[in-house]
Amino acid sequence: MKTVIEPFRIKSVEPIRMTTPAERERILREAGFNVFLIHADDVVIDLLTDSGTGAMSAAQWSGLMRGDESYAGSPSFYRFQERVREVFGFEHVLPTHQGRASERILFELVGGPGRLVPNNTHFDTTRANVEHSQATAVDLPIPEARQPAVEHPFKGNVDVAALEKLIEEVGTERIPLVMVTVTNNSGGGQPVSLANLRAVRAVCDRYELPLFLDACRFAENAWFIKLREPGMQDHSVQEIVREMFALADGATISAKKDGLANTGGLLLLRDETLYQQACNLLILTEGFVTYGGLAGRDLEALAQGFEEVLHEDYLAYRIQSVGYLGRQLTAAGVPIVQPPGGHAIYIDAASLCPQIPAAAFPGQAVVCDLYRRAGVRAVEIGSVMFGGHDDEAARPHHPASPRLELVRLAIPRRVYTQSHLDYVIEAAAEMADNAAALRGLRIVHEPPVLRHFTARFEECD
Ligand code: F0G
Repeated sequence: MKTVIEPFRIKSVEPIRMTTPAERERILREAGFNVFLIHADDVVIDLLTDSGTGAMSAAQWSGLMRGDESYAGSPSFYRFQERVREVFGFEHVLPTHQGRASERILFELVGGPGRLVPNNTHFDTTRANVEHSQATAVDLPIPEARQPAVEHPFKGNVDVAALEKLIEEVGTERIPLVMVTVTNNSGGGQPVSLANLRAVRAVCDRYELPLFLDACRFAENAWFIKLREPGMQDHSVQEIVREMFALADGATISAKKDGLANTGGLLLLRDETLYQQACNLLILTEGFVTYGGLAGRDLEALAQGFEEVLHEDYLAYRIQSVGYLGRQLTAAGVPIVQPPGGHAIYIDAASLCPQIPAAAFPGQAVVCDLYRRAGVRAVEIGSVMFGGHDDEAARPHHPASPRLELVRLAIPRRVYTQSHLDYVIEAAAEMADNAAALRGLRIVHEPPVLRHFTARFEECD
């Protein structure tokens, strides 16, 4: 049998409101051509993000009733802590309301002016938190990561030689830690191999630097390791996760992805002093150490989610369905980052729309067309999201490489069926057939940081 089915039945449904092309045209204009400003009930298929948008299981929903809302020492916290310790092998576990809260605490403690944080590719909030501390975020992916059409089993890998070169150039005292994002979201949702993590660890050992994981999609990364890394096929996903985390001194995790819950985050630490400092900052803005800004019921949902996400039939279906979308789009002539990522497909807008220069945001033009055509909401990951940064400083080892102009179709976990994906494939294929007619955009309003959330655009003539 070839068909990989969704390994769940549907017990509760949410209606999708269908819209007309004329309605969508009006809505898009009112939103200043920024899909972040569109109301979600005006969206047919919402692929804006896989973060916090998943469907919980019956076991998670029943966990909500069990949630204990005691301010300190809730049994829900201890169940959560036990599960997290078991899954990741870390003693010090801090809950936070989402991933960026963990990042803010970490970089407030280790960032600062003159410092540099290397990563395969920083996600936007990670970069923003590094920069908010006045440190510099440096992206060091392998060269293949910058070539969308090139296949590589672990395209999320860190360029280890570039990392060593950076450390030699700037000195260890300016580098508080090395970070690796698994899977590499901004680089196409691509996995990092265990071999690469071990090589980064060896560099960190040589220079006595801590290694941190940005591990929102740790289970999807572990599944790719099981599928693709020689010798790993017989290891369970849980074993692989433990091997990945055994290499790290800490991790920031948004539990809104592989926590299979709608909110939550984690900060995992080994160093006792850093842990105590982080507890103090947690209390300052998030909450007491046994709830970290979450409700007790959220901690229950997370304890259950971190168990379910390691089920191998779930991961097989998850990676297969994202791969299905990627393969069908490729067959329909839509250029995408190859191979398909774990949580999302990334359309290569620069190659689809050569008539639109980066300054006129080809990715944003594709995003607007998908919404107009079918009510599909995607997100630009290119010059809108990352523009306005000092690129040369951020990429000293790849000064000549152009920024990628991508459009991400992120797939919420356990939410859409195959026919929803078929609808998206039809819309994207039509969009690609008409790509030569797409027009660029110009920004008419933008905030100083994270401009993609609130910027407004108008279409070029
Ligand atoms: N790191 C990575 C790699 C992420 O993808 C995200 C969030 C974060 C950190 C921050 O976590 O949202 O819980 O504060 N990514 C979402 C996305 C928003 O759409 O990719 P958060």
